[in-house]
Amino acid sequence: MGAATAYKGKVLVAGATGKTGQWVVKRLLHYGIPVRVFSRVRDKAWSMFGESVEIMTGKIQSAADIADAVKGCEAVISALGSSAVTGESSPGDVDRDGVIRLIDESAKRGVKHFGIVSSMAVTKWYHPLNLFGGVLLKKWEAEEHLRKVFSREGRSYTIVRPGGLTDGEPLRHKLHVDIGDRLWSGWINRSDVAELLVLSLWVEKAKNKTFEVINEAEEEQLGLEHYYDSLNQ
Ligand SMILES: NC(=O)c1ccc[n+]([C@@H]2O[C@H](COP(=O)([O-])OP(=O)(O)OC[C@H]3O[C@@H](n4cnc5c(N)ncnc54)[C@H](OP(=O)(O)O)[C@@H]3O)[C@@H](O)[C@H]2O)c1
Repeated sequence: MGAATAYKGKVLVAGATGKTGQWVVKRLLHYGIPVRVFSRVRDKAWSMFGESVEIMTGKIQSAADIADAVKGCEAVISALGSSAVTGESSPGDVDRDGVIRLIDESAKRGVKHFGIVSSMAVTKWYHPLNLFGGVLLKKWEAEEHLRKVFSREGRSYTIVRPGGLTDGEPLRHKLHVDIGDRLWSGWINRSDVAELLVLSLWVEKAKNKTFEVINEAEEEQLGLEHYYDSLNQ
């Protein structure tokens, strides 16, 4: 049974078949929010979600496919992530160009809010993770584009920069949030990242925020909304 929320707009989830994306879908459904997923492999999405979501098949390289997918959606949450150094699943194609295409098509078609999973250390060009196809630099470029496009004309964005991602149920950890990319290490469950992004749909203090997040301690949480209170930008 879903929890109560006034938010009823349809949400497109990109990267829904990924480990974080699946949690985004689960938490949206938990709140009774209609979900459309954008996936390059229909059968994979179908085997995960069945009839609980609407499935749009397409490529992140195609503006036309994305335009069809975002039509009629109030919000988009992207959990896309690259998995190869070169080619169509590389950081350049997915984390930067794919996400930028998704941002632009969303803005053109009236999407109001855009949430994204980025990464801790995204501003640090000298970070060793950049040896993987410049992944942090590409994510930073996509972040910059999102801040530019979605902070105007009635639109909003939320950028979550998690530490290392782990698996497990949401709401099991007290979190530590920060701004300015000052953290160097830490872990967080994908499910909590998903929850923060879902909350950003209706929590006013989450709008137009970019922040880092990691676990502070194992401690049952009643909700994560209050973490947005401490972000002053
Ligand atoms: N791993 C970490 O510790 C860590 C830390 C900080 C931030 N992050 C970031 O967090 C995000 C989520 O991570 P995750 O581990 O949940 O990711 P994941 O399981 O690898 O999922 C990535 C998603 O992106 C999709 N994707 C990849 N290439 C694509 C392409 N060419 N076209 C369309 N879709 C494509 C995948 O689709 P398919 O299912 O079709 O492959 C999948 O749905 C990523 O952006 C990652 O960089 C990760």
